[in-house]
Amino acid sequence: MHKYIVDFLDLLNGSPTSIQASSEIIKRLERYDFKLLKEEDHWELQNGGKYYICRDTSIIAIILGSRNLLDTGYKIGAAHIDSPSLKIKPESLKTENSITSISVEVYGSPIISSWIDRSLGIAGRIAVKEEDNFRILPVDLRRPVAVIPNAALHLNREINKGFEYNKQTHLKAILQSKESDKNPLMGALATELGVARDDIFGSELFLYDFELAELCGLDQSLIMSARLDNLGMTHSILSAISEVENPESTCIAALFDHEEIGSETRQGADSSFLENILERIAITKGYSREEYLRILNKSFLVSGDMAHSYHPSYPEKYDPSYSPVMNGGPVIKWHANYNYATNLESSQMFKKLCKTAEVPCQTYIIRSDLLCGSTIGHILSSRLGIPVVDVGNPLWAMHSVRETVGVQDHINMIKVLELYYQKNI
Ligand code: CO
Repeated sequence: MHKYIVDFLDLLNGSPTSIQASSEIIKRLERYDFKLLKEEDHWELQNGGKYYICRDTSIIAIILGSRNLLDTGYKIGAAHIDSPSLKIKPESLKTENSITSISVEVYGSPIISSWIDRSLGIAGRIAVKEEDNFRILPVDLRRPVAVIPNAALHLNREINKGFEYNKQTHLKAILQSKESDKNPLMGALATELGVARDDIFGSELFLYDFELAELCGLDQSLIMSARLDNLGMTHSILSAISEVENPESTCIAALFDHEEIGSETRQGADSSFLENILERIAITKGYSREEYLRILNKSFLVSGDMAHSYHPSYPEKYDPSYSPVMNGGPVIKWHANYNYATNLESSQMFKKLCKTAEVPCQTYIIRSDLLCGSTIGHILSSRLGIPVVDVGNPLWAMHSVRETVGVQDHINMIKVLELYYQKNI
């Protein structure tokens, strides 16, 4: 198996929530000698130096280029690390008729039916007492601990004609079916972390599909997993910047949480995080505010988020002229109303990269009678004034708990992004 695919499956399996995804990203950056910088500290930056900054779960990695920023601008790759999910309401645990269950809130827009009748894990983070204060620890129970069962067909005869799950009443996750102490979930979390139950002050927990990422297809050309949107593009950008050595341009990988809920949070793409970091790099390297604004004008951003692959069972959902196929190469995404930030200039830039990397390139435009999704590209483009191209790899069943992508597409995307960061094309 290609080394990128081995590492991709490892990242998928290690990232049940964006909290763990964030730790997995940091682990990989540190493996490639990126050093942690804190937003609250004073910075000294060396040319050729590799650094990363975290704002809660979002991460920005930087490699300082050898040339003047006024000549090169920043080369930025950006993606979101979160996926639609079911978030546990911490105080909602109840035992009725010996069945212990917990309620959820819907995070983002999952295909809800894909979460039913599956072995589910629980992961996230908890606040634990530490002397007079608390500290936050990531947690993953690392075994299937919950299920949201369907009603039997015999009790819901119409289910195959389409059924709407009520988010309050039908999505209770069953944790166990025998009488026990008052809060077995807190007990399991305390055991997992080796802390006293009374020392757990609070939690932020999500359900996740316990099934592992795996290759699929007679020719093993597909990858099936949860959270491919958007760990696919997260891993592509991360792998590409990790391979870069002594670049001329300053390279940035901006990996944001909270895209699935609109990006308007402290660490989302619609926060001050990226613009603060870009300005601080310029200030630290001795550039004036005017020069910083000129540097932005010279910069470029590739926004990576997955694209809808042509689905042979639903041909009526695609514009026949713009139906990207699985393993047919990276997709440039366009939208007349700029839900995607791609413009004529930025698309030419990405096409040239694909051509130089000898990778095929596809185009996606949604049918004119359907509503278009969106991503972080247009937010970053309008906030920073940087030209953006929105790209992504073809994917089936976006927002299902189990999505599908192509093996070759993933390898090709990394090849193109490596070239983007390393060379001045
Ligand atoms: Co996405």
